[in-house]
Amino acid sequence: MKQITLNRKKPVISVPLLLSAYFGMLAFLPVSVFAAPVFAADPINGQKIYLMHCAGCHGQNGISDMPQAPNLARYEIFTKADQALIDTIRSGRNMMPAFLGILNDHEIRDVISYVRTLH
Ligand code: HEC
Repeated sequence: MKQITLNRKKPVISVPLLLSAYFGMLAFLPVSVFAAPVFAADPINGQKIYLMHCAGCHGQNGISDMPQAPNLARYEIFTKADQALIDTIRSGRNMMPAFLGILNDHEIRDVISYVRTLH
């Protein structure tokens, strides 16, 4: 009696190949997930935050509606260091409310990057 043998082909994608592809992608994952949020301030998001939290006093275009609030569209703001602006926004000053706990550091950087476009 003749024995019937199945001519099985080897699978094209092997397990070791799949594993190396998987771990290969893992190696790139941290770059794609963390690069953008950590390094780039986003003025588009900053504009949304500005219109929601700041425009009421500092005006839609940085020309203040409230007499005590300085125009953010003036040159001096543009030349102030980020850290000075961050501190003011975080802690507030006189009539300016503190945004600590309302905006996180990333959102504060976004809103500053937007304010820097107003001059
Ligand atoms: C309730 C009104 C009000 C709101 C809301 C407000 N501010 Fe102010 N802001 C002020 C006033 C008033 C001052 C001036 C404070 C002082 O020095 O007496 C000020 C000061 C500042 C300064 C400092 C300017 C300088 O010359 O150093 C910055 C920057 C600023 N605000 C940004 C913002 C941003 C960004 C937001 C939104 C996240 C915001 N403010 C929301 C009223 C406001």
